[in-house]
Amino acid sequence: MATTTIKDVASPLARQTLLDSDLTRPVAGVRPIRLLPWLQVVKIGGASIMDRGRDAILPIVEELRQLLPEHRLLILTGAGIRARHVYGVGLDLGLPVGSLAPLAASEAGQNGHILASLLAPEGVSYVEHPTIASQLAIHLSAARAVVGSGFPPYHHHEFTGSRIPPHRADTGAFLVADALGAAGLTIVEDVDGVYSTDPNGPDGKTAELLRDVSAAELAKHKGTLPLDRAMLDVMANARHIERVQVVNGLVPGRLIAALRGEHVGTIIRTGARSA
Ligand SMILES: Nc1ncnc2c1ncn2[C@@H]1O[C@H](COP(=O)(O)OP(=O)(O)O)[C@@H](O)[C@H]1O
Ligand SMILES: [Mg+2]
Repeated sequence: MATTTIKDVASPLARQTLLDSDLTRPVAGVRPIRLLPWLQVVKIGGASIMDRGRDAILPIVEELRQLLPEHRLLILTGAGIRARHVYGVGLDLGLPVGSLAPLAASEAGQNGHILASLLAPEGVSYVEHPTIASQLAIHLSAARAVVGSGFPPYHHHEFTGSRIPPHRADTGAFLVADALGAAGLTIVEDVDGVYSTDPNGPDGKTAELLRDVSAAELAKHKGTLPLDRAMLDVMANARHIERVQVVNGLVPGRLIAALRGEHVGTIIRTGARSA
């Protein structure tokens, strides 16, 4: 039988342009649900921890092991010296940022495989991004932690503002922690936190530890940071994660203390507000 009526699918956005935020806000402006509210995300630095080898890695592995009975963890690794080498070779050859990003990301993955191998006796394994995206809950029901690459998968879609990929492991870790509505994110470095200037740089003697700082203040900071600047932009629009702590993974006990809620590094406050 022929029908002359057009079926109308009920949707609060059906008759609106998605480009007008005044129109979309009543529908899209509400806070998303927390998918994994009990999850703690820990980002392990590539240059600061993994490149130092066993002296830095084994104590961190031990702290992660001790944390397993208390927390369920998504451990994300960054890239270090091998990515810097590949950036150097690739830039010299003229490769675009979208070709360099996946090359650097693969080192973050290598570091993740290393860490996961050391935690394998605890049931921990390395999982790829699609698994993090769709099967994290089942993996964390079977094991207390999984390891993944901190790099976000922009890869060939990486933004072209810089030839060095701007979205690296800090940004990726923050994006995934906020998207999952995780309980917290801890970033592990080789310094006590974020300083007013690089403590290992020429003005290191004048460096002061910033114990509590907002992402907006850090975004205005002119000097170097031990973090991706792109993460600060993302933090401005955070939905769940209100604070991130940057801790020194070379000092025994700092990571454990941070995950027990102690203030032992730099706390960075994001734009998210508690409900
Ligand atoms: N403002 C700053 N505060 C703290 N550390 C800084 C700062 N600027 C630069 N750094 C340097 O960043 C280093 C960490 O390098 P980074 O590239 O962040 O390592 P990773 O790849 O492990 O994240 C520290 O050892 C420190 O020397
Ligand atoms: Mg860093």
